[in-house]
Parts: sequence; structure tokens; C-alpha cells
Amino acid sequence: MTTPSQQPSQTPKPGSQPAEQTYAAASDDVDVTTISPVSDDGERLRETPPADPFGPDIDAEAKELAARYPQSRSALLPMLHLVQSVQGYVSQEGIAFCARQLDLSEAEVSAVATFYTMYKRRPCGQHLVSVCTNTLCAVLGGDDIYKKLSEHLGEDGKPLGHEETSGEPGETGSITLEHAECLAACDLGPVLQVNYEYFDNQTPSSAVELVDALRRGEKPQPTRGAPLTDFRSVERQLAGFFPEEEDVFRSDVDAPSQAVETLRGAQLAADRGWTAPVMPENAPLPEVEAK
Ligand code: FES
Repeated sequence: MTTPSQQPSQTPKPGSQPAEQTYAAASDDVDVTTISPVSDDGERLRETPPADPFGPDIDAEAKELAARYPQSRSALLPMLHLVQSVQGYVSQEGIAFCARQLDLSEAEVSAVATFYTMYKRRPCGQHLVSVCTNTLCAVLGGDDIYKKLSEHLGEDGKPLGHEETSGEPGETGSITLEHAECLAACDLGPVLQVNYEYFDNQTPSSAVELVDALRRGEKPQPTRGAPLTDFRSVERQLAGFFPEEEDVFRSDVDAPSQAVETLRGAQLAADRGWTAPVMPENAPLPEVEAK
């Protein structure tokens, strides 16, 4: 007998599902009446709302976010990060939650959540490792780093794919791997990020050492910026919630992120006394050519 807790996952992965994971394909030893959405009289759908993973605290924080903007719908991006801080991804319940909070349709929320790559549609690991494979990093070794990590984190000879997770999502040492477009640190390439914190000037072997440390539950210090936490904690920060204590905030969130390379151009200009031309008060707008 199959109990409701043994039902197929309520979080289907994107794309087509294997037939054996659907109710229709339940085998002989499954009592389909216990998992059917239709009641005994066969006339109404079961009225069991899905469990709400967002408690009163998150509900209050969502309302606080909505109140920060003249139009509440502007809070959608941070609210999706808040959802990810709870579940490690944007689930269907998360989409419904945002829609309810902001008086939007689920289709509108879905359209946004699927547009931006920072919103994950599958549960993320404790850490998100993003390897820059954009042009500059790629030619400096970013492609090799991604390939090496993909093979190293894979199982049974199968490389880990983009946005796939090594280990059980959310558990200590689990890692979601993704390739990323320019991470805005080309002067320090090839770079990768862990939970959006930078690890500069990487090589395939330094990247392997890094993910091995993460898998052991360690949190190596990023090259610059704030100390490493985990994906869900960073999602809370991206939602706009920070530690209230000034010293904790300064040490955990607001660490300096510039490098010598980042400032080299500004330093050179300062050394040579170069300044940008002053912007004229009433600069004429350029003519727009009629087509
Ligand atoms: S190309 Fe990798 S940070 Fe810009």
C-alpha cells in the first residue's frame, strides 16, 4: 500500500516527466484511491491545499518588502529572493505566494521568475558555484575550469550538468554548478563565484580544491568581499534583509570587494592628474535622424 507520503514528488522538474512518476502509471500495488484527487463520490476534486512553506515571519517580511515601494509590484524581484531563502529555489508555491502578496497573476510572477537566471527552478545545493565561461575568462581557462568541475562533481562517469546538484539539495556540502556569463571581474579572470562571492584567478586544480572544501562542510575565505555563508543566507541579503547589529553587518555583509587590479585605472589617472572633462550645464541633445 502506498501512503500519501510516498506519492511522487510535488516538485516536478522542468520538462517532460517519466511515465512511472505519474499517477496514471501507478503499479498494481498502489491503492490509487488514496492518491486520487477525486473523492469517493467521484464528483469533486479533493480540497487539500498544498502545504504552505511560508510561515507568519516570512509573510510579515513579504509585506514589509511590498511596503518599501510606491507600487507593491516593484517588490517582486526581492520577494523572489525571499522565496529562495526559504526553499532554495522558486517553487510553484513560491510563485503563488508572491502573486498573493503583490496582487499579481501567477503567470506574471512566473514570467519574471523564468526570465532571470538568478531565480532557480530546481532546489539548489548548500552552495551555488558559478563559473564564468564568458569570452575573456573562457580564453584564460574558464572553460577548462567548468569542464573539470563538471567531471569532478559528476557521478558514475557522468559529468554534472548546468544547474545540476551534487549531493542532496540544501544539505551540508551539496553543490549546484552553473556556468555564468561575465561576472564583472574580467581583470581577475578566470573567476568563479560561490554564492556570488568572488574567487579570483582560478585554475582547474584550485577550483577542485575549493569545491572539495565545500563538500567537507568548510567555508573557504573568498579572495575579496564578505565571508562565505550559504546560498539561502545570501538570498536573504539579496531580498534586502541584513543583520541589524552594525559590527555584524560590517563584518558579514559589507566587506570591501575591490582589488588592486580593479582600481588600477583610477590609480593611474590620479597619479597622472587626469580628470574627466566637465559636463556642460546645458549640453544639447544629439539630433535624432529621421528614418
Ligand atoms: S569574462 Fe569572466 S568576469 Fe568578465
